[in-house]
Amino acid sequence: MLTFYAQFHMEPRGKYIIRVCMGTACHVKGAGRIADVIKERLGVGHAETTEDLKFTAEYVACIGACGMAPVIMVNDGTYGSLTVQKTDEVIQKYQQMD
Ligand code: FES
Repeated sequence: MLTFYAQFHMEPRGKYIIRVCMGTACHVKGAGRIADVIKERLGVGHAETTEDLKFTAEYVACIGACGMAPVIMVNDGTYGSLTVQKTDEVIQKYQQMD
């Protein structure tokens, strides 16, 4: 039953869910820095949502794409081999979308 109820989120969530992989491979390759960029640009850390309800950040365990660490997912899109600049570009792309 717990897993059933765990699917409900009491907090409002953004239109775009940014999942930042914090698994070992991504951690070693700088996932912390990627999370920092998201926090700097959007002002959200783990389980936080922007005031305009556009973005929610979530720090997650390995999402199975270690070969392209560090990795984030935005909804169904996967972005790997991230640098600070590439992360910025991904954020900007979604900021420009409705
Ligand atoms: S550790 Fe990040 S995808 Fe596996």
